[in-house]
Amino acid sequence: MNAPRHFLTLMDLAPNEIRALIARAIELKAQHRAGTASRSLEGKVLAMIFTKASTRTRVSFEAGMAQLGGSALFLSGQDTQLGRGEPIEDSARVISSMVDIVMIRTFSHADVVDFASHSSVPVINGLTDTYHPCQILADLQTYFEVRGDISGRKVCWLGDGNNVCHSWMNAARQLDFELIVACPEGYDPDPALLAACGQHARIERDPATAAEGAHLLVTDVWASMGQESEQAVREAVLAPYQLNQALLESAHSDALYMHCLPAHRGEEITAELMDASDSVIWQEAENRLHAQKALMELLLKA
Ligand code: CP
Ligand code: NVA
Repeated sequence: MNAPRHFLTLMDLAPNEIRALIARAIELKAQHRAGTASRSLEGKVLAMIFTKASTRTRVSFEAGMAQLGGSALFLSGQDTQLGRGEPIEDSARVISSMVDIVMIRTFSHADVVDFASHSSVPVINGLTDTYHPCQILADLQTYFEVRGDISGRKVCWLGDGNNVCHSWMNAARQLDFELIVACPEGYDPDPALLAACGQHARIERDPATAAEGAHLLVTDVWASMGQESEQAVREAVLAPYQLNQALLESAHSDALYMHCLPAHRGEEITAELMDASDSVIWQEAENRLHAQKALMELLLKA
């Protein structure tokens, strides 16, 4: 049997595969709306393991599988033997012997790598403390739909140099655009990853300078899942990095802005921008569904 193809970070796909996946996601979205979707994953079963909360990831994977003729199992960390200490290696062997594809959302990225290395079927990273690659597939799809190819553009990340930021950094390397990370000291993205990005990513402490001329502004919560106890400290330090109308005005006149959600209105983004009629944030959320259907098709046909 061939080794399964996993999607643990954006670096697991070639740039041409990312572009093809986006094109397929756009096609699947049109087919879904027209009621002409094919049952390309007929009979396939997806196991979804969650040890962190989720709305979008769970609903989009489960609905996506159903739309393509397959089915999905929701496995909460606490209710499986994984939560009682069964080794990841043993769980991976057993679960992957019964399903066609696995999606995992958990804390440690190393745990997902470990699971994948013992899985006989493809494993998808549905968010770890270090990366959130599925989110960036949907974000890229949204940019391509509204503005076309992102290559050569300037993207500005605002706030915490977190898991979503790391996946945007990988996207910059893969699709050849510039990512300016506007964050305060102490909230930098991983320095090794930054070094690996070369000219594609850099840190700029001043948010207004970072946003200048940007084609896309992106932000996320200041305290990610697992960092709730740091909320007050983070709110104070990250306040100057809020995505608001003034910052948007310093960006390119065609600039879009994104947020992976869930959002905290009045913290990392203003209510005004969240609720603006021309925001692409809701389109971005919906695209999780279509981008991940295209991803599952790609991994299952490999
Ligand atoms: N953006 C995102 O992954 O949302 P959920 O946490 O609701 O899955
Ligand atoms: N950075 C956030 C993203 C949530 C989708 C977190 O990890 O909680």
